[in-house]
Amino acid sequence: MRNPFQYGGVVSGESFCNRTKEVAELKRAIENAEKLFVYSERRLGKTSLIRKVLRELPKEEFLTVYIDLWPTDGETSFVLACAKAFSEAMATTTDKLLQTAKTFFSRLVPSVSANDDGKPVVTFGFDQKRPDVPLLEEILAMPAQAAEKEGKRVVVVFDEFQQILEYESDVVERLLRSSIQHQTDVAYVFCGSRKHLIRQMFMDSQRPMYRSGSHYPLGLITEDHWQGFIAEKFTETGKRIGAETISAICRLTEGHPFYTQHLCHPLWELCETGGEVKPGMIDQATTLLLDRESYAFMNLWESLPRNSRRLLKGIAAEAPGIQVFSSEFLRKYQLGSSSNAQRAVEQLLKKDVIDKEEGSVVIPDRFFRLWINSKQ
Ligand SMILES: Nc1ncnc2c1ncn2[C@@H]1O[C@H](COP(=O)(O)OP(=O)(O)OP(=O)(O)O)[C@@H](O)[C@H]1O
Ligand SMILES: [Mg+2]
Repeated sequence: MRNPFQYGGVVSGESFCNRTKEVAELKRAIENAEKLFVYSERRLGKTSLIRKVLRELPKEEFLTVYIDLWPTDGETSFVLACAKAFSEAMATTTDKLLQTAKTFFSRLVPSVSANDDGKPVVTFGFDQKRPDVPLLEEILAMPAQAAEKEGKRVVVVFDEFQQILEYESDVVERLLRSSIQHQTDVAYVFCGSRKHLIRQMFMDSQRPMYRSGSHYPLGLITEDHWQGFIAEKFTETGKRIGAETISAICRLTEGHPFYTQHLCHPLWELCETGGEVKPGMIDQATTLLLDRESYAFMNLWESLPRNSRRLLKGIAAEAPGIQVFSSEFLRKYQLGSSSNAQRAVEQLLKKDVIDKEEGSVVIPDRFFRLWINSKQ
């Protein structure tokens, strides 16, 4: 029997828990052609959520474009990723795809092939012989043109949007701002997992995207939703789990979707078919999970400088809200000066190992936190 708990990739259908309110709110925002920043800590379910929303929009009314910016590293790859996503969203047949690509992107040379499912996919190269046209502007103007040509409304999603902060210049950010401002009929959703960066992007008056949209911080999934979801997954596969045990899981994972699914995975394995999860199994499942992750955790740990490790030990051991620059903390965890701690915080933030939260810092990976504590 297949383990019903999935973690890692995008989840949909039966593996997708709740988010009814969020789905409705995002749909409404898209219908109103809003510009929205959706952000949260890593693996909280942004991609799964937005993909569900896009799937559920009526096809005859909406043209939906989803662009993952993760693999992009500058203006050129941004342009190519957008061109590919727009063309594929607009055309379902190979001929139409080629035609669309040629009509819209005069300087790009398209070639079309079929993927494993027989669906046409397009790749672009640059036509070096053609004179330089402002390609980026051309691309960014496309959603509005497409909306008109197809007689549909358009929604464009940029996933992993914080990636554009890695680009050499802020030209993409600047042009994006000016073009979305004029596209009053097109909805834009910007998703990002490094929430401090995303916040900085639209709350810092020095940045091009400053206040160019409303913000939508995605939250955890509450226990009442997990209760039904987890219980059902067990019963459907001939196993049982009590409400109290589910509460204990949620306390441990704080209802974070990825960590909840990740913990339920070994828990389901430990429970025999026809049996019921016993209270002590959560500890067993946690140990199993930490064992399986320990190689990755150890690698990460060993790659960190001494002060970063000391700081992490302190954050993991202390209650949430701990002031890491207080003299007591610095002394207790042998960090020396507050500038040492400052440097460590900056490095760990950059590596995404910690996150800023309400005037303090946290280790978002619940299991890494447990692993650090288990090492002391
Ligand atoms: N609504 C949900 N119901 C159940 N599990 C979910 C849900 N949303 C997310 N998950 C769990 O979280 C994992 C990560 O989801 P997803 O990739 O959508 O998050 P993300 O926020 O886009 O992550 P990243 O920050 O890495 O981009 C999934 O593999 C799944 O285990
Ligand atoms: Mg994602």
